[in-house]
Amino acid sequence: MRRIGMLTSGGDCQALNATMRGVAKSLYNMFDDVEIIGFEDGYKGLMYADYKIMQPSDFSGILTEGGTILGTSRQPFKLMHTPDENGLDKVESMKHTYRKLKLNCLVVLGGNGSQKTANLLSEEGLNVVSLPKTIDNDLWGTDMTFGFQSAVNIATNAIDCIHTTAASHRRVFIVEVMGHKVGWLTLHAGLAGGADIILLPEIPYDINVVCDAITKRSKAGKRFSILAVAEGAISKEEASMSKKELKAKKRTEMVYPSVAYEIGARITEITGSEVRVTVPGHMQRGGEPCAYDRVLSTRLGATAAKMIADGEFGYMAAVKNNDIVKVPLSEVAGRLKTVDPNCSMIKEAKMVGICFGDE
Ligand code: F6P
Repeated sequence: MRRIGMLTSGGDCQALNATMRGVAKSLYNMFDDVEIIGFEDGYKGLMYADYKIMQPSDFSGILTEGGTILGTSRQPFKLMHTPDENGLDKVESMKHTYRKLKLNCLVVLGGNGSQKTANLLSEEGLNVVSLPKTIDNDLWGTDMTFGFQSAVNIATNAIDCIHTTAASHRRVFIVEVMGHKVGWLTLHAGLAGGADIILLPEIPYDINVVCDAITKRSKAGKRFSILAVAEGAISKEEASMSKKELKAKKRTEMVYPSVAYEIGARITEITGSEVRVTVPGHMQRGGEPCAYDRVLSTRLGATAAKMIADGEFGYMAAVKNNDIVKVPLSEVAGRLKTVDPNCSMIKEAKMVGICFGDE
């Protein structure tokens, strides 16, 4: 009997279920004697031996379902050899569950923090295979993460909807897009939604440059301007600050619920424009996976199953030039894939007139 543990960890996204289905269906097709153990709410389930024995029927009909049938959590935030609330070492607890259940492998679906944990468990001797999940697309080692394209569609749709109302009222609209500390989601949604100004964490903005772009548009007779602003966007001034100074600044500016509101207030102050802010927030992680993600997840899932069959552990299934490949977890762990400000996509976006607030 082969026993494979499976968990989904970190923030959820579309296509978690589609990916688990890809792994499970492939495993059930390859082996007559496989049992899948699903851990509840991410690594927490592994730590506290909170699990269920999955049946093939659990993975049926979930290709199009958002969320995760196993539940997820961001716990433990950082996996180290530290005690939990019962005084037990967290890593040792996970290893204990793995061994007690006689698992042959643990399959982890997760983003940055979760891949770090997966790598640690792999280094501690567990057989681990992982899959690249996140709407942020910021995982090093893969061209694409599942969830990203679905989130791009939702954020794009938000920008599309804003266009008509912005034009009716001659307003400046800011759509704040998720993505944590990277700008992939904002860049793609901004381009797809025809945003006039795109602000990314990787390209610190000058508020005067942003305002000049807005004024120029209105002088040219445009009835509105739309900004796609990454939740992690920072100004040039902030980029030059030390961590301590930045923290102090954020504390005094607690009046703003988020970065988009702060930018909006500055725009009104400088240009006199009427500004509105829209934050699609967690909507970007919800709903069903788009067709692209369903295909990607199925391919990634099948590849992860093949890795298990071949006994190739300590790897993440990844996308490279439209092929599914395996990348060592040790290379993925702790590294962010950010937007290169000099990449061709930014250059092309600038060619069509999009302002990034830097020049
Ligand atoms: O990593 C995915 C993500 O949605 C980020 O884009 C965002 O910054 C964060 O998670 C939000 O986290 P939470 O769901 O814990 O509020």
